Amino acid sequence: MARLHARAFGKPWSRLDFETWLRRENAFGAVVERSGRLAALGFAMAAGEDAELLTIASSPSVRRKGAARAVLCELDQKAQEMGLKRWVLEVACNNKPARTLYQRLNFVEIGVRKGYYSAGPDQFDGFVLARPVGLEPTSLGGHGSD
Ligand SMILES: CC(C)(COP(=O)(O)OP(=O)(O)OC[C@H]1O[C@@H](n2cnc3c(N)ncnc32)[C@H](O)[C@@H]1OP(=O)(O)O)[C@@H](O)C(=O)NCCC(=O)NCCS
Repeated sequence: MARLHARAFGKPWSRLDFETWLRRENAFGAVVERSGRLAALGFAMAAGEDAELLTIASSPSVRRKGAARAVLCELDQKAQEMGLKRWVLEVACNNKPARTLYQRLNFVEIGVRKGYYSAGPDQFDGFVLARPVGLEPTSLGGHGSD
């Protein structure tokens, strides 16, 4: 998981970060495999009635094949089972793939954190997005996990 994360992010979670989150009672996650290999992962945390998406990433070799969408679908099912009501997440304004993914799944902007992300000397706003827990099957498209 840490290796996949490192291929997806400039500031990836370490193995210790994953171990720490996996031990937390309010954390939950999902992974999707393709051809027997880890293709995508996502981690979330329950906070009151909210499910907060902490991270999601798919392996560069399987992008645009529905792996992230499948992870979000599985996380959503878990959030429903836990009785959570609302998804909340944060995404950098310049992260077009992630913003398009969330838009396709009907997330809406509920706030902006100015200059929340930095890359070298550049700063980027973070958009806070939300949507109800319980994705309609029609919004999940035709890609499923293997
Ligand atoms: C964002 C990310 C998780 C998407 O993973 P993915 O497995 O490629 O996503 P999916 O194949 O499930 O895509 C579902 C939909 O999202 C949108 N989407 C995903 N990547 C896109 C891209 N590069 N450009 C435009 N739209 C994109 C599309 O609408 C896509 O549906 P379509 O392929 O039928 O058009 C992946 O690009 C990634 O790991 N990025 C680095 C980590 C990251 O930024 N995580 C999000 C942090 S908030």
